[in-house]
Amino acid sequence: MTSAKFITFEGIDGAGKSTHIGYVAALLRSRGLGVVTTREPGGTDLGEALRELVLHQKMHLETEAMLMFASRREHLAQVIEPALTRGDWVISDRFTDATFAYQGGGRKLALEKLDVLEQWVHPHLQPDLTLLFDVPLEVARARLDATRELDRFEQEKVTFFADTRAEYLRRAAQFPARFRIIDSTRSIADIQTSLEQILGAL
Ligand code: TMP
Repeated sequence: MTSAKFITFEGIDGAGKSTHIGYVAALLRSRGLGVVTTREPGGTDLGEALRELVLHQKMHLETEAMLMFASRREHLAQVIEPALTRGDWVISDRFTDATFAYQGGGRKLALEKLDVLEQWVHPHLQPDLTLLFDVPLEVARARLDATRELDRFEQEKVTFFADTRAEYLRRAAQFPARFRIIDSTRSIADIQTSLEQILGAL
């Protein structure tokens, strides 16, 4: 057993989570910790190939959910579990909460089916800390439209993101011990101060 922690970053597209991953990794490294940063879908060669498919190819909703978990299975085996065993902290840009929020909340796949996949793929592992970057939908949309060509998820309607966000918030209320909600409309400096406090407590 090591004291290494598994931290996940979550939020709807445009919530601004990715801006803060480098900051948290640098903060932990400055305290002498080994840190692995990674992402889902992706994080391995196979996972990145699956990411290309799920972000750009039309498919059945259940196929999409299973590919998310297939990518996750490989990610756990190749990256997350070995890092934690070595004693490195792991920061993942999205994990299983994203599947509940997007495929469950957004696309309306029965949550019971996702429970089964979760039990199959990681029955014993949960993040130690999940940072949920939360913003109103208009703010998230404005941030997205300012960037690059949109993928299959980013092109979804506003109601899809409302449902996705609602499922994220429902899970945060269901698992209060590991979730911290970050009001991502605040300035970067303010958010960094909150992140320092949260990590200090961890
Ligand atoms: P990213 O742009 O934050 O890297 O995430 C890629 C997209 O994949 C994002 O729109 C959310 C979506 N996604 C799911 O729908 N389900 C999942 O399980 C994961 C990990 C991501």
